[in-house]
Amino acid sequence: MRAGLRVLGIESTCDETAAAVVEADSMGRGKILANAVLSQIAEHAAYGGVVPEIAARAHIESLDRLIRRALNEADCSIDDLDAIAAAAGPGLIGGVMVGLTTGKAIALAANKPFIAVNHLEAHALTPRLTDGIDFPYLLLLVSGGHSQLVAVNGIGDYRRLGSTVDDALGEAFDKAAKLLGLPYPGGPRVEQAAIGGDPIRFDFPRPMAGRKNPDFSFSGLKTAVRLEAERIAPLTNTDVADLCASFQAAAVDVIVDRCRAALRLLADAPQPLNALVAAGGVAANGAIRRALARFCAETGLKLALPPPGLCADNGAMIAWAGLERFRVGLVDGMDFVARPRWPLDSQNEDSRWHGKA
Ligand code: KG4
Ligand code: ZN
Repeated sequence: MRAGLRVLGIESTCDETAAAVVEADSMGRGKILANAVLSQIAEHAAYGGVVPEIAARAHIESLDRLIRRALNEADCSIDDLDAIAAAAGPGLIGGVMVGLTTGKAIALAANKPFIAVNHLEAHALTPRLTDGIDFPYLLLLVSGGHSQLVAVNGIGDYRRLGSTVDDALGEAFDKAAKLLGLPYPGGPRVEQAAIGGDPIRFDFPRPMAGRKNPDFSFSGLKTAVRLEAERIAPLTNTDVADLCASFQAAAVDVIVDRCRAALRLLADAPQPLNALVAAGGVAANGAIRRALARFCAETGLKLALPPPGLCADNGAMIAWAGLERFRVGLVDGMDFVARPRWPLDSQNEDSRWHGKA
């Protein structure tokens, strides 16, 4: 007998194929029973980035197997599940359709409720699974496709405070890596190369620092790295390490400055924030994690940082978001369509920014 809820989650919006089973006990606390993730990095590395057609095909080839593996690991059958959740966007549409259709098919065949999950909402709710954080909290979402600061007030109740006007932070890490000759995906490589580097050798810009609205801009920073790299070429290992360290130091300063701006905006909010939470692949970066810890120690705000594996794309976050929606009565129909763009805060959608949800 079990008193809680158990949900299968499927993720296929980018280059990770993932399936997971998550359970909430009768007190509502979450537990990951299985979390199977298959990265497609090897398939895309030769192209220096994710190729949508290759991604969609790779999802088709491995998703069934991953779902079976997750169910085996969780020691449960489809009959033991309370609901099926799948990411329905935003993301690469071919891949999204693979996961979404698979989720719907399982739900239909097993006569289970189906939940279409917003991938960004799943990142946003992860700290509730890992740390049991209560609403409201401030979310810093930094990934390959998104850089946003969001006030998370409840399930489906999100207010986007700021967003990037050009590149996402992960994209900037990846592009900087590429122009320095580091392999894809660049984020972890830049972090690694930065370890022995001098963070003050190059005085890179801190785009948007000091601005009132907590928006981001990273393309100027990336260009500054390119210009400097061209100026001092050919690059030695020390040059690459110093460029990475100086780039990362600029990114860290911008992140902290933008979080500070967001807190200022929320200073008069009716309910005080319970925490600052970080999510998305870039939130795995050690320098950013340490800087956020210092910032929270200074401001007295609790910090919730999911473990790096749950910052990157995974199925557990989709299962958990599905579970959270299901337990407040939100389910979706079989007519739910895959969405390449799906902003978290659709009412506040700013038409100036195209291409980034
Ligand atoms: O959330 P995620 O797995 O996928 C998206 O939804 O985009 O994020 C992937 C991004 C990539 O740009 C990758 O380079 C970056 O996160 N990333 C990092 C680190 N680990 C992953 N960036 C900086 N430092 C890291 N340690
Ligand atoms: Zn993501």
